[in-house]
Amino acid sequence: MRGIVLIFILYWYGISVSNACGKCTFYVALGDNFSIPLEHKNLREHDELIWKKNSETVYKKKKNRVQINTTVVSSSGSLQLIDLKMTDSANYSVEVHDKNGAFLKEDRKCLCVIEKILSKPHIQSNCSKSKLTLTCSVKKPNNVKYAWLKNKKEMKENTKTLIEDKKKLKSSDTFSCNVSNEVSYQMSDDIKCPDDKLLGLDFWVMVAILATGGGLILILILVLVVCVCRRLKQNKDRERGKM
Ligand SMILES: *[C@@H]1O[C@H](CO)[C@@H](O)[C@H](O)[C@H]1NC(C)=O
Ligand SMILES: *[C@@H]1O[C@H](CO)[C@@H](O)[C@H](O)[C@H]1NC(C)=O
Ligand SMILES: *[C@@H]1O[C@H](CO)[C@@H](O)[C@H](O)[C@H]1NC(C)=O
Ligand SMILES: *[C@@H]1O[C@H](CO)[C@@H](O)[C@H](O)[C@H]1NC(C)=O
Ligand SMILES: *[C@@H]1O[C@H](CO)[C@@H](O)[C@H](O)[C@H]1NC(C)=O
Repeated sequence: MRGIVLIFILYWYGISVSNACGKCTFYVALGDNFSIPLEHKNLREHDELIWKKNSETVYKKKKNRVQINTTVVSSSGSLQLIDLKMTDSANYSVEVHDKNGAFLKEDRKCLCVIEKILSKPHIQSNCSKSKLTLTCSVKKPNNVKYAWLKNKKEMKENTKTLIEDKKKLKSSDTFSCNVSNEVSYQMSDDIKCPDDKLLGLDFWVMVAILATGGGLILILILVLVVCVCRRLKQNKDRERGKM
């Protein structure tokens, strides 16, 4: 039983691997148009040209006659794909021979159609006493890359979650995340550490105000004490003078 399951897994794995190409030559957005170039200059009128999508021939021109044209080919020989669908992801191969059948060119390109990221990412923040934890999330997070920006400058972190040491942060520091794939990117709004705010003011500004206020009151009290003391001393002196 286990053996059968294993064989099935390998079978499916094998299928998915051979259908997707190991490495994509081109990444194109779903719904876009794309022309797969024929990297062969001087295509002549009488040359034989064959384009295949996987093993299916989608264009064939031989002896100056188009025999198959389920897909449009430009005069320079490039394959013109319009309004790309997911099913257009494939291994495209091309062959060029001259009118006598002599080999001129052979090439293969793998086209990968992927969806653009359309929604704006959202940052969830947790600002504890010692660290700031930010998590960047986006709808449909398949095969996306994450990048973080601190004060609009790109950081080297590229994980979904960013953890920063609070000691190294200024309260004015802002963070945002950039979610991207090969055909698009989207930026989140800027975010700050929210716990550092007290009545809408920065924690340290508040501390400074309180400290200054406290200092002023202290000076006032000192001045008052000095005045009262002097007054008492003067009174005593006056009384002594009378005697
Ligand atoms: C793509 O197609 C070519 C020619 O048809 C074939 O040799 C090659 O193995 C294919 N590659 C993949 C990854 O399917
Ligand atoms: C793709 O090409 C078609 C026909 O040439 C055109 O109508 C359409 O606007 C193009 N689409 C894009 C996304 O450029
Ligand atoms: C194929 O060629 C015929 C004749 O030239 C043309 O009418 C038709 O529109 C072509 N089809 C495609 C998909 O280019
Ligand atoms: C925030 O982080 C602190 C410390 O890491 C943790 O104890 C707490 O559960 C977190 N809160 C949320 C809402 O994730
Ligand atoms: C977001 O990331 C993409 C992919 O790395 C990059 O091309 C783009 O310039 C970045 N955008 C910003 C604003 O950093």
